[in-house]
Amino acid sequence: MQKYALPPYKIKMVEPIGLISKEERIERLEEAGYNPFKLKSEDVFIDLLTDSGTGSMSHFQWAALMQGDESYAGSRSFYRLEKVVKNITGYKYILPAHQGRGAEQVVIPELVKHDNMYYISNIHFDTTRAHVELAGARAIDCVVKECFETEIYHDFKGNFDLEKLNEIIKDKKPENIAGIIMTITNNSAGGQPVSMENMKDVVKIARDNSITVLIDGARYAENSYFIQQREKGYENKTVREIAKETFDLADIFLMSAKKDGLVNIGGIIAIKDDFKLFKRCQTTIVPKEGFPTYGGLAGRDMDALAVGLEEALDESYLAYRIDEVRYLGDLLRKGGVPIQYPTGGHAVFVDCGQIVPHIPFDQFPAQALCNALYIEGGVRPVEIGSLLLGRDPDTKENLKADKEFMRLTIPRRTYTMEHLRYVAECLINVYKNRDSIKGLKFTYESPILRHFTAEFEPVK
Ligand code: F0G
Repeated sequence: MQKYALPPYKIKMVEPIGLISKEERIERLEEAGYNPFKLKSEDVFIDLLTDSGTGSMSHFQWAALMQGDESYAGSRSFYRLEKVVKNITGYKYILPAHQGRGAEQVVIPELVKHDNMYYISNIHFDTTRAHVELAGARAIDCVVKECFETEIYHDFKGNFDLEKLNEIIKDKKPENIAGIIMTITNNSAGGQPVSMENMKDVVKIARDNSITVLIDGARYAENSYFIQQREKGYENKTVREIAKETFDLADIFLMSAKKDGLVNIGGIIAIKDDFKLFKRCQTTIVPKEGFPTYGGLAGRDMDALAVGLEEALDESYLAYRIDEVRYLGDLLRKGGVPIQYPTGGHAVFVDCGQIVPHIPFDQFPAQALCNALYIEGGVRPVEIGSLLLGRDPDTKENLKADKEFMRLTIPRRTYTMEHLRYVAECLINVYKNRDSIKGLKFTYESPILRHFTAEFEPVK
């Protein structure tokens, strides 16, 4: 019996990567304003910034790409994609979008009917939060407390805190809740899954209060796989059946297809049966994304996505995907590095608050660790902490994140276990020298989504 699943594919095409010298890495990072987002990818050896659009396509997807129908209206590629999405979700109305945030900008404002409205999610992803705020509403997170107890095992750390959910709805009043967004898996605190039982309870609360339920399902296939592996009663169901059961619960599905769509670009809006909402989205998608049968995508992108959606439900693929992440997590834990445990679907989240407690939250401990890991081994992680969280939209004060995470995000079907072993070795070295790591202060900060463009200098 193998301890970790084996990859159900072999490599047919390679992209060379190389490691520049440590002196060069130090220089490049300074030029990038101590923000890994501003590094050139050429200067990165192992790129763990994101799993979004960074995976490899199969030869079936590359073949599908050649069949793209680039007609502006009524493209054959759209109907191929529509058929697959209808099949997987059971939803009636499908619109393509250029990526997840494209889907968000069309749908999220449609549910905001008046001032002082709220969206509630286990944890809003940052672009989702931004679109909620741009629509004049406010985002409230409502995840279980176990989510932030990184060392304690819990099968479903992405679950909603149901008691808190009831309290929020009572406090803000049901008519002021624009929607409940179930983010599956819950990206922001570890790619942690949400159980079917919890989703059913959330939906019951939503139905009792006549609140619309949305799925932010960038990684819905990974979530369904975790349910199969961990939740009683689902061990004999297929991932596809579990996914269908998940979709049956909600009203709207928004997807960044750059994750479990296994493509480099793409997004999906699927609406179960609300014809009026669909018509409104069909109108607004035109100026925002594109004509309703292409929504910002080339025909070929839609063909590749139609194939990728099916491949992401393959259980041997999912077993290896999840085990790759677990493998990196196990190596780090063995080396003493504190991480969100158990590991989730797409990334290892390193608990930097525990590693560099001498750095205050507004000197961005996790960003400082990201920089240290880049200098150590040319590995590019991403900060998911107080830098990403930003400032309070009303008071403009820096918000303090519950956890200062550094995310080591694994692109799909891209790196080997050897690469991941190297990453673990580099990070364990950084961990050994943690006391010498210094915090950061801004030399430039943008008013919204600051983490992408901010520049810093190390605190002396
Ligand atoms: N929702 C979730 C849960 C996401 O993780 C993302 C993107 C989006 C929505 C937005 O989708 O990027 O296609 O516009 N997450 C990426 C990440 C960027 O690195 O976690 P998008």
